[in-house]
Amino acid sequence: MKIAVYPGSFDPVTKGHLNIIKRAAAIFDKVYVCVMVNSTKQPMFSREERVELIKKSCHDMPNVEVDTYGGLLVDYAEKVGACAIVKGLRAVSDFDWEFQMALANKKIKPEIETLFLASSEKHTYLSSTVVKELGKYGADLDDFVPPEIIDDVKKKFESGGV
Ligand code: PNS
Repeated sequence: MKIAVYPGSFDPVTKGHLNIIKRAAAIFDKVYVCVMVNSTKQPMFSREERVELIKKSCHDMPNVEVDTYGGLLVDYAEKVGACAIVKGLRAVSDFDWEFQMALANKKIKPEIETLFLASSEKHTYLSSTVVKELGKYGADLDDFVPPEIIDDVKKKFESGGV
């Protein structure tokens, strides 16, 4: 059984993330989408909220499991028996840091590969940061976040969650 981990902050999950999840789920037998800590970011949604938002968005994907972990990505990958870490790449600007992380992870656990999936053209501009910026000003988020979570995300902005 080929297992992959798709890690990220997912603050909140976007249609771009969902595109990567669907494509990873078509390649691997099982995909763990794991909400993790990015020490350079101050999240708007709690880790539990982010897990719930992804679960709602992936309700129709039987081989996708949503989880959270506060430690190292490679330790999580080993724990769930994953042979690969999947990352989405949007632009050259993503590459430098993603490449560093992939090399660091490879150094710690050489048996776990990192695979980069090119983001679909439609989602190249899309990020959780863009969603938060637009949401803060009350913009329509229909094109950016999965329909199942639009109301939850709107509520968060209305409650002044930023
Ligand atoms: O969506 P993001 O913020 O780009 O995801 C980054 C994330 C959370 C995957 C990364 O920060 C991470 O792997 N955090 C867990 C801690 C870890 O393993 N760090 C080592 C990377 S060098």
